[in-house]
Amino acid sequence: MEPCRGSSSASPMNATPLRLDSGFVAPSLAIMTIGWLFESACGAAVSKPPYSILMNRVMMRGVVNTSFRVRPMSPNDFGELEGIIDTSFSWFVRSLALHSVREQRRVLISEAQGTVVGFVKLTNVQVGSGKFGRIQWIAVHPQFRRQGIATALVNAGFESLTRAEAKAVFATVRRLNTASLTVFGSQGFRKIGFLELWRLFGLRIFEFYREIWLAPWILVLMHD
Ligand SMILES: CC(C)(COP(=O)(O)OP(=O)(O)OC[C@H]1O[C@@H](n2cnc3c(N)ncnc32)[C@H](O)[C@@H]1OP(=O)(O)O)[C@@H](O)C(=O)NCCC(=O)NCCS
Repeated sequence: MEPCRGSSSASPMNATPLRLDSGFVAPSLAIMTIGWLFESACGAAVSKPPYSILMNRVMMRGVVNTSFRVRPMSPNDFGELEGIIDTSFSWFVRSLALHSVREQRRVLISEAQGTVVGFVKLTNVQVGSGKFGRIQWIAVHPQFRRQGIATALVNAGFESLTRAEAKAVFATVRRLNTASLTVFGSQGFRKIGFLELWRLFGLRIFEFYREIWLAPWILVLMHD
């Protein structure tokens, strides 16, 4: 599991550097040049769709990696976030995710090419007098996946929560969600079972379970 690409120290307001796959730089530049020539020759209105489609294909194959930055959500981002939620979550959790980001508090978004391409929603978890944090939702637009965007969001979320004095940060992930487990695992999160949680919280473990969703198919991850 590799560290965040060029963004492990990403603070929410910092731009994350470009990552280019050197083997594909030349073809990508060629495609961009052809797109630009095509646009110049035919006029932007005509040429934009084929050029965008080409670029989308290139990005979907992971040939070009996008420059992105992580920043706090603003009210104008909600529409684009809705699109990401629609394409990322099953119907029965979509409305919960939408509700959670609608209040706009503690949502970091990842922006690339002037578009919102991913988000992370953070919450506080209070157990007794202990203050903890939780990464509650994370998703990246399908066209922008496998470019380190979720990794950067997890990092930025963890930093933000620990700066706000969370003793540890939790996440809950479906056992079969390999993508998410890999992203969290690569950033220092580890599985934590009942016994370890019991050692951490004692009888207050039930307060913790009240804060998170627990089911047999869900794993609890922790980063301290
Ligand atoms: C999970 C998710 C947020 C990952 O976003 P991402 O931006 O593609 O993740 P990253 O690019 O940071 O991935 C980092 C590493 O995680 C692993 N990974 C990511 N997606 C993977 C996948 N689909 N299958 C296997 N490994 C994957 C890879 O090791 C990847 O590194 P690599 O691209 O160099 O191989 C994204 O797939 C998503 O939005 N899924 C739907 C919503 C969801 O499941 N949210 C999590 C709920 S807990």
